[in-house]
Amino acid sequence: MRKSTRIVFILSAGIALAVSCSKKESAGTPATDAYPAIAAAFGTNINPAQLANYAAQGRPAYITRDNTGTNAISDAKATLGRVLFYDKALSINNTVACASCHRQSFAFSDTALVSNGVEGGSTGRHSMRLVNARFAREAKFFWNERAATLEQQTTMPIQDHAEMGFSGTAGRPAISTLLTRLQGIAYYKELFRFVYQDETVTEPRLQECLAQFVRSIQSFDSKYDAGRAVAPNDGAPFSNFTAQENQGKQLFLQPPQFTGNSRTGGGLGCGGCHGAPEFDIDPNTRNNGIIAVIGTTSLDLLNTRAPSLRDLTRSGGALNGPMMHTGIFTSIQQVLGHYGAINVAPGNTNLDQRLRPGGQGQQLNLTAAEVQAVTAFLNTLTGSAVYTDAKWSDPFR
Ligand code: HEC
Ligand code: HEC
Repeated sequence: MRKSTRIVFILSAGIALAVSCSKKESAGTPATDAYPAIAAAFGTNINPAQLANYAAQGRPAYITRDNTGTNAISDAKATLGRVLFYDKALSINNTVACASCHRQSFAFSDTALVSNGVEGGSTGRHSMRLVNARFAREAKFFWNERAATLEQQTTMPIQDHAEMGFSGTAGRPAISTLLTRLQGIAYYKELFRFVYQDETVTEPRLQECLAQFVRSIQSFDSKYDAGRAVAPNDGAPFSNFTAQENQGKQLFLQPPQFTGNSRTGGGLGCGGCHGAPEFDIDPNTRNNGIIAVIGTTSLDLLNTRAPSLRDLTRSGGALNGPMMHTGIFTSIQQVLGHYGAINVAPGNTNLDQRLRPGGQGQQLNLTAAEVQAVTAFLNTLTGSAVYTDAKWSDPFR
């Protein structure tokens, strides 16, 4: 299988080379024959002479937030990031890749409540979707925002004892061992030379490339986007929406009116924290009342980030995984049940004030029709290319 792929690859590389030789701008374009180890490991999936487009992807005009900072995406570094993301060699015993817990078919999340790491380890929180991470106002990462930047985030799972294992504690090697290991792998020698002109593997280089790959994962081909593109603003009815979807959108976006803590009119206020059109999280959000620690009786008041609410569900309406950092909800109806009757737990000193009007947990008094409308609206945030585009897929296959 690999062998025949290889032949096709060499043929097409030859054609690509022949074509590119006739073009002026191809001077310096790397010939794929110069990268035999890349060809052997990835077949036609990765061709240094013809990289996939990560750097110049289109984005809708209404998308304005961007936490790229100084690490602008290049096709070469994002490609190296893709290989790293799917490579089990990044774990101590070669069993776990980033993609083991962030699966493309589930919007780069995991359907399991907690995800399996190395040697029986598992994660303390539910995995997060990695869709449109670039377009979030909150540029700190993880449910509790403990990673100050996406760059810093990317090597934390590698050094997590339970996840990929290079913790440097309890007899486990530290990340320096991984850097040496990667530097000895033939396709990394070629990839690092291609990207950085030398073969040195460093932690900042891993961070730069992994963050670029993660930031490249975008989803803007949903029904919502088709409607938003031709509407004057988010509040206006979308011409491609059903009446129910438009009702759900209004409920999601508009703030509630309260008498005491009881909703007597208006919407549900979701958009106050999960703002359109990115559906990212307001950086000033405190916790939403989900304060448990999976498998314990302790409380954790510091989970104040959510991934974009885009692609909560995939085509057909199935959820991409259980929701919240505890994975406690397995339907949008349950999520609305939670927000509909916020319980102010004793000791929850960090509950967002928007959820406790007058100091008491909000009661949204939702009707069944309202629940159905918000559910229908959230389903319009599901894209399609993010699940299928080969540039985000496993290059080892
Ligand atoms: C063993 C499973 C597992 C592995 C392996 C893993 N992750 Fe994660 N990832 C998670 C979980 C669980 C969370 C949420 C953890 C938390 O907040 O404490 C997460 C969170 C993240 C986030 C934060 C998203 C956000 O919006 O804040 C990013 C980015 C991410 N992972 C990228 C990666 C990368 C890159 C790798 C590989 C170097 C990786 N992950 C490896 C399970 C995993
Ligand atoms: C005060 C801010 C705030 C408001 C208002 C709010 N949320 Fe959230 N939301 C959060 C926070 C914070 C989280 C992360 C919670 C956690 O897991 O600890 C979250 C998580 C979620 C999640 C889980 C996302 C995932 O990837 O698992 C869903 C779904 C959600 N909210 C939907 C809604 C809906 C629908 C509404 C309106 C009824 C709403 N939210 C209102 C702050 C808010």
